[in-house]
Amino acid sequence: MTTVRDLQAMAGDEPITMLTAYDAVTAALVESAGVDVVLVGDSMGNAVLGHEDTLPVTVDEMASRVGAVARGTDDALVVADMPFLSFGADEAESVKNCGRMLKEEGANAVKLESGPHTVSLTERLADLGIPVMAHLGLTPQSVNQTGYTQQASDREEAKEILDLARAHEDAGAFALVLEHVPANLAAQVTEALDIPTIGIGAGGDCDGQVLVFTDVVGLAESSPPFAEQFGDVRGEVESAVDDYVEAVESGDFPGQRHANTAEDLDDLYSG
Ligand code: KIV
Ligand code: NA
Repeated sequence: MTTVRDLQAMAGDEPITMLTAYDAVTAALVESAGVDVVLVGDSMGNAVLGHEDTLPVTVDEMASRVGAVARGTDDALVVADMPFLSFGADEAESVKNCGRMLKEEGANAVKLESGPHTVSLTERLADLGIPVMAHLGLTPQSVNQTGYTQQASDREEAKEILDLARAHEDAGAFALVLEHVPANLAAQVTEALDIPTIGIGAGGDCDGQVLVFTDVVGLAESSPPFAEQFGDVRGEVESAVDDYVEAVESGDFPGQRHANTAEDLDDLYSG
């Protein structure tokens, strides 16, 4: 089993790889390809559940997908991304929702979109044995305040992120996602912290990288500018399904080898 300690040992030594997965089949593929951390991201909202953004994702939806990913993996660290408003408003409720992901669904850690309001919660969760991955910079659950643009482009905001990163490390976070921030800020945060930083749209100086599965394999309809497409799964699916439809319509499928007959079934009406 990959633990948060293993990740911390990798930091600065070899790059940490993290990728999202939302079901058991994908999680197994992602793990066997060598990914260290499987994130059950709330990006499932737009990536696979048909929503405009991540805000509508529920705790029940996350729990169901975390369970599937945990069943699909052996060794990877499985991180449950806590949905909008499932944490941060009420401590007892936050602990219950986060705890459920480990206790009932098999996650190894949770990720919280972080801010001043998650410092004491991070400490409480870590005290209770729930490892917390922090997330600063662009936090898509705040899209109604920030949009999806790069964050922390001025000194004041950049300093705020550096301070919050330190505060979350002090509170016991085991790693930090930095999303869509200037590369030179991410480099300084990485330098300042002992815990690993995992970047997305944050340049090459973080301790690891994370992307969304559907972007990486070319299944997404559109992807953010900082993502990279490494395959064409959309094209593969289109061509396979086209071929299936054509085979059924033309009568080529099913063929002889797809059909079995049983003896003594002829002339059923004749007595
Ligand atoms: O939901 C998600 O996939 C994420 C990553 C992009 C960090 O939060
Ligand atoms: Na997320």
